[in-house]
Amino acid sequence: MKDRTGAIVRAEQERYLGKLLPPRDEIVAEMERQAADEGIPISDPEVGRLLELLARGTRARRIVEVGCAIGYGALHLARGAAEAQVVSIDFDAARLERARGFLERAGVADRVELLHGPAREVLAALDGPFDLAYVDAAKEEYRHYLDLLLPMMTVGGTLVFDNLLWKGWIAEPPAGEEDAATRAIEAFNPYLMMHPQMTAVILPLGDGVGLATKTKPTILEQGGPW
Ligand SMILES: C[S@@+](CC[C@H](N)C(=O)[O-])C[C@H]1O[C@@H](n2cnc3c(N)ncnc32)[C@H](O)[C@@H]1O
Repeated sequence: MKDRTGAIVRAEQERYLGKLLPPRDEIVAEMERQAADEGIPISDPEVGRLLELLARGTRARRIVEVGCAIGYGALHLARGAAEAQVVSIDFDAARLERARGFLERAGVADRVELLHGPAREVLAALDGPFDLAYVDAAKEEYRHYLDLLLPMMTVGGTLVFDNLLWKGWIAEPPAGEEDAATRAIEAFNPYLMMHPQMTAVILPLGDGVGLATKTKPTILEQGGPW
């Protein structure tokens, strides 16, 4: 969901691109309605579509999402890759419960494992390999998520990071003191772009989406390298 219209691309472009998006099916539309009504942070519709097409295009077999909320991203990932197993993490049990309901109605619940807990702890206990990862939880922790995820990713695997232009505040910081999330994303973006094991790009889609591929294995990967 967009917090600030026109913060990333001009408002007219945003409206135009929004109008081009095909109507969503009943379940996805209900998720979007509930999120808007209750202020639940879910991915932008165009980011949902990107996830679906990446899941399909990469032929991912194992996918991990960091930050599930009510299952909007997880549903797009599962629909994109019809054979894939998806693991999605959140520390909000009530949101995971709602995600479960939507995923059951959509007929993909048997392929989506919802894991409850702080993302860093859950990630540290996971086993790879994963072909696709979507990072969308605490902005202050993105670097930790990446460091935990990278050894579990296959070489050639794809990583997606939401909110890397963070309401437009990374390029144009608001007057006054920056919040912790802004500072964290500011530090994270060059780390991602210059990382020796990845090739990455940041797209002005939604709230800014980082797209990266793992190009080199990690030395001493647990059980790997993949
Ligand atoms: C932006 S929402 C995720 C949206 C979801 N990816 C989607 O596509 O709709 C971020 C979620 O991350 C969860 N979260 C934030 N910090 C977390 C943490 N440290 N550990 C686990 N979950 C966290 C929040 O509870 C929230 O539901």
